[in-house]
Amino acid sequence: MTSQAVKIGICGLGTVGSGTFNVLSRNAEAISARAQANVEIALVGARRDNPACDLGDTPVSRDIFEVARDPQVQVLVELIGGTGVARELVEEALANGKHVVTANKALIAEFGNELFALAQQNNVVIRYEAAVAGGIPIIKALREGLAGNRIEWLAGIINGTGNFILSEMRDKGRDFADVLAEAQALGYAEADPTFDVEGVDAAHKLVILASLAFGMPLQFSSVYTEGITRLTPDDVEYAEELGYRIKHLGVAKQSDRGVELRVHPTLIPEARLLANVNGVKNAVLVEGDAVGPTLYYGAGAGAEPTASAVVADIVDLAREISVGQNCRVPALGFAADKLRDLPILPMQEVVTPWYLRMEAEDRPGVLSSITAIFSEHGISIEALIQKAPAAGETRVPLIMLTNAAAQGNMDEAVATIEALDSVSGEVARIRVEALDG
Ligand code: HSE
Repeated sequence: MTSQAVKIGICGLGTVGSGTFNVLSRNAEAISARAQANVEIALVGARRDNPACDLGDTPVSRDIFEVARDPQVQVLVELIGGTGVARELVEEALANGKHVVTANKALIAEFGNELFALAQQNNVVIRYEAAVAGGIPIIKALREGLAGNRIEWLAGIINGTGNFILSEMRDKGRDFADVLAEAQALGYAEADPTFDVEGVDAAHKLVILASLAFGMPLQFSSVYTEGITRLTPDDVEYAEELGYRIKHLGVAKQSDRGVELRVHPTLIPEARLLANVNGVKNAVLVEGDAVGPTLYYGAGAGAEPTASAVVADIVDLAREISVGQNCRVPALGFAADKLRDLPILPMQEVVTPWYLRMEAEDRPGVLSSITAIFSEHGISIEALIQKAPAAGETRVPLIMLTNAAAQGNMDEAVATIEALDSVSGEVARIRVEALDG
């Protein structure tokens, strides 16, 4: 039996584009067998070649829009990134009846609702496995593997660059800027690396995961986002003394009060698997009512790990084209008319334990005035470290772990403490997650 050919067009030959080309070429035989079709690269659209891949005699156009207009191309693979040209390209491809595979989390998080509707109008689909957590098949896990569950919550390390920076700072005492430069050289970081270190990239990914988990439309503007730039080596050290590691987490939880969507540095008990995910690795912990906790781990960035996810989507689509579309899974797991309009819980009402660090005068009565303020707000202190003052210094660092408190209540207590004459500067605060699924 001769296999049908499915023709794809790749737009963008950067880190992920070249990785995708190489994986498709190297594993062509297995890919075609799994797709039940010969996957052929009909056209590559790229402004310039990339020495990381040898295109051989594959046709190339310097105008990426030619790929969206080429009548041969059935699947357009968008690996340009960003929400400008990439959005126009995807819209044109969908309007021309082409399926789309993309690794672009910003595009899906910010414009996915409109793009999925456009795809549906044109009877084509958008696949975006590579948009979240690089090579980890977390989209397929949520959309298909866990489809029988009510997902209660998920928490993940979903930015490889940020995790790489935190791991190198902790393990080797390396400087923030120096590690970031290395992450850029390794092709992990976004074109604008502030997206990585300020949490925007993780927020893009979190909103995609939450929409799939809870069956709701994408709401990027509702994600609370805090980066890792204000973390100090002291916080990393004190957290360890208390038995925790600091990780940059994306957390989504649903309860009767609403949905929590938040990205921020977090103290995690050191025995948890997530606390031991290091370097560019990502991991997502998902708690389903039927299955309990499940953990997905792997490379969160890089050429071939991300290409692994892109190619998996190409295989899915090629199979659908060759054997029929009857088994198509909806873009966000739920049929478009069944997506739920769930309320987002304001951050002021989000309840977590807290790590606090402050500088206080080392004299009698200071500690009791601080603990009295917590007591007035009904906040209980679980652990406390007081360091000896440095030579000639009258102030000491005070580090506390509190029990669960709503952010609004903690804001008030901290503002009162910061106003004390005996406390200097701001109180540093990091949320704690027990993650005991
Ligand atoms: N900049 C992203 C990261 C790339 O570091 O995780 C993968 O999305």
